Amino acid sequence: MFSRIVVRVQRTAFSDIQKRFKYTLPDVPYANTGISNFLSQKSVSEHLKIHKLDVERANNLIQRTPWENTTINQAIVQSSTSREDAPFFEAASSHFNHSFFWRSITDVKQTPSIYMKKAVEIDFGSFKDFQIKFSQNASALNVPGFTWLVFHDKALKIVNTFGNGSPLELRNCHPILCLDLFEHSYIADYQSNKNKYIANFWNCINWEFVESKFLNALIADKEYKLRVESLVEEEITQQYEVDKIKQELIENELEQEDEYEDDEEFENDEDFQDEPENEGEKVYEVEGETEKKN
Ligand SMILES: [Fe+2]
Repeated sequence: MFSRIVVRVQRTAFSDIQKRFKYTLPDVPYANTGISNFLSQKSVSEHLKIHKLDVERANNLIQRTPWENTTINQAIVQSSTSREDAPFFEAASSHFNHSFFWRSITDVKQTPSIYMKKAVEIDFGSFKDFQIKFSQNASALNVPGFTWLVFHDKALKIVNTFGNGSPLELRNCHPILCLDLFEHSYIADYQSNKNKYIANFWNCINWEFVESKFLNALIADKEYKLRVESLVEEEITQQYEVDKIKQELIENELEQEDEYEDDEEFENDEDFQDEPENEGEKVYEVEGETEKKN
């Protein structure tokens, strides 16, 4: 009996703590090292301090609000429509955006999968065009904000949000990837060279995270999912045919090399030497004698 009460008290206490600290700073794996060729450790550390303040603000403002028991996505969408809730919205949205940014980048080198590349090609023409469009949007943002790749209204799109604005304010919008373009995100490492910061961003994107978010968004759009799958299948088939041709060429070359080596062996074998030709003269065998002609 006593132990049950203790367990109940402990559970209640834990639940209270959870409520008091609904939002927490995410675990950023490269917080102590930074990301080589993108962000220094100092820069990540200072940036996380700013993020931490927003987490604390959001936790203070959420108390006794309808959002204590909702997801952060719901809290952002619902608090975005009222001026009264603006302080909470700002803090919660900043927490969401920053958490998304930390997950969008990685210190482990990754490349996009065929699946992600094919999807990008549907809506941007090519992967290169997507990169150019994203970078142009990021560069053109002349106020603090974020540039996003989102899945919205049956397509991948690039959108900018201003200040602590959220892509979730767009109905049925699924964020896929984001880049923080507040000055505090790049000033320590790049000073005013924002374009270099944007260019280096492409070297450290966490494509595994991006694809997981994209696949999650496609749960609601099976038609688009099938379209991507069909393009991936086509690409794999084409690649298989190319590989098959390459393999045949390699095998043919190896066979020819073997034949050549066999010929060389014959050349070295005296039993298989061709009869030497007498240069400048031809020998005709005639009955009983040999006749030479020049
Ligand atoms: Fe930031």
